[in-house]
Amino acid sequence: MATNGDKTASSDEFWLFGYGSLIWKPPPHFDQRIPGWVNGYVRRFWQPRPPRHTRSPRARRHPDRALVLGQPGGRARLRPGQGVGVAYRIEADRVAEVKDYLDIREINGYTIHYTPFHPADGSAGPIRTLVYIGTPDNDQFTGPQDPQALAEHIYRSEGPSGLNRDYLLSLEKALDGLSPESGDTHITDLSNRVREIQASDAKGPAHTEPASHEFRKVSSIDEQEETEKPQ
Ligand code: SIN
Repeated sequence: MATNGDKTASSDEFWLFGYGSLIWKPPPHFDQRIPGWVNGYVRRFWQPRPPRHTRSPRARRHPDRALVLGQPGGRARLRPGQGVGVAYRIEADRVAEVKDYLDIREINGYTIHYTPFHPADGSAGPIRTLVYIGTPDNDQFTGPQDPQALAEHIYRSEGPSGLNRDYLLSLEKALDGLSPESGDTHITDLSNRVREIQASDAKGPAHTEPASHEFRKVSSIDEQEETEKPQ
């Protein structure tokens, strides 16, 4: 399924929006990288990676959780910062190569959408960008979960690119590096929870909460965000 954004880009150039690892691990070729945001999506760890992409015994036991942009429904409200990321402009003669690369890198059940991107400095736009998102019709899609259970899962999980907690903490750092307002409260809250679990673990087993990998789905993003407030 694809939705059309405004078309201000010329027909032979290609713009990609990155909201996860694409922020700190860019595509192999681009000639512009612009911080900014898209509207109408939330950044969430709503998608487990399929077991076939895991290698180590730890990864098989605890497959990692992939970040997606999901579309909020019902009573959900976006808060500033949640659609923040970067847009990359790919030169026309590199588009095919970059798309092939992304097809492999973003293979885990993502759906392609096209959405208007707003540069943070207001210099241009909106620009029509391609974005890899998660949709509820994908088998891998989990939807909202209890944030503490999710933090426990992320802390103990590993995927094809390494530890899931490194992914989360890299994302937090990358978002902080984009602009003073680009932090995402959901990502900051999860990162704080993971750091707390790590600190408890460092003190020894007596201080460690039992790992729960049973995700309690909560019924809406509003309800989830109620449970996300730091304790
Ligand atoms: C993205 O970065 O835009 C997609 C999710 C990811 O690969 O981390």
